[in-house]
Amino acid sequence: MRVLLLGGTGSIGGAVLEKLQRNNHEVVALARSEHSASRMTQMGARTVMGDIKHPSQWIALCDEVEAVVHAAASWDCDMGVADRRVVQSVLPRLSKSNQLKTFIYTGGCWLYGQTGDIVATETSPVQELESFSWTLPSINDVLCAENVRGMVIHPAMVYEHDGGVFEHIYKDARELGYVRVVESESVRWPLVHRIDLADLYVLMLKHGRQGDVYNAAANEGVPVGVLTRAIAAQFGITQPPVVMDVIDACREIGDYAEGYALDQQMSSAKAKSQLGWRPQYEDPLAVISE
Ligand SMILES: NC(=O)c1ccc[n+]([C@@H]2O[C@H](COP(=O)([O-])OP(=O)(O)OC[C@H]3O[C@@H](n4cnc5c(N)ncnc54)[C@H](OP(=O)(O)O)[C@@H]3O)[C@@H](O)[C@H]2O)c1
Repeated sequence: MRVLLLGGTGSIGGAVLEKLQRNNHEVVALARSEHSASRMTQMGARTVMGDIKHPSQWIALCDEVEAVVHAAASWDCDMGVADRRVVQSVLPRLSKSNQLKTFIYTGGCWLYGQTGDIVATETSPVQELESFSWTLPSINDVLCAENVRGMVIHPAMVYEHDGGVFEHIYKDARELGYVRVVESESVRWPLVHRIDLADLYVLMLKHGRQGDVYNAAANEGVPVGVLTRAIAAQFGITQPPVVMDVIDACREIGDYAEGYALDQQMSSAKAKSQLGWRPQYEDPLAVISE
């Protein structure tokens, strides 16, 4: 399949790019800088210069591909506006085709809000964070799009050895000499390794149906205290994690720090039973200690 990938240098998109290549899909990747273009070219993608904030620069690429995977995020104050622009430009363009084209939209586990002891499934009620409320109309547009195989994936917190959602914990350990958690050590994070997550995107491209939603979590919920203590131990830090107030965390890293404070559990039973998704990384502590 020929796939247009938005966000192909990102934590998620980079892994998706690699998996698409390995599965013999042809990737056209959007790049907003020469640096990003060269990284993705080295990974075997055909790169096209363009910014997600200006779809007119690249929207014609939708006519050349069979699928669009959207894993880009600008993380600035215009993030929601840019994202809505992508969805509102790509869907009508794909729907004009004579063939049924595919659009995979990346949502996220934070949409389920604080689930506590309830394990969120794809049919759980949505309690989105205010800073991500713009995703709801986009998700609705994707799932209800006519003449497009629109699908949504909700990744858990995405990690790799010392990156993804672990990156700021490593940074604290390195730079502060101690680690921190937001709200409490007992806050649970659903987790997925970026390589496993990329497998699910590829499975959705192959087998997913119009209107499908899939959660991607290899671990339903791991207490963040367990994760931070394991990372601290890598640095010989014995001091327990310092507990940060959510308001202070938001002040330091942005509103999305509220997500770090959510005590969540999320299930991927649907992806496993319907698409045969089999995450290889089910022990984040083993990955941390690699
Ligand atoms: N990471 C997680 O734990 C997680 C969990 C659930 C959901 N999500 C969702 O997944 C999506 C991607 O997250 P991520 O963590 O993979 O993000 P990321 O690592 O920050 O990657 C963002 C990607 O978007 C690209 N990008 C940013 N602004 C752009 C622009 N104006 N034009 C073109 N490309 C642009 C970046 O390219 P450059 O090379 O130019 O920077 C990069 O490839 C987000 O919507 C996020 O909410 C993430």
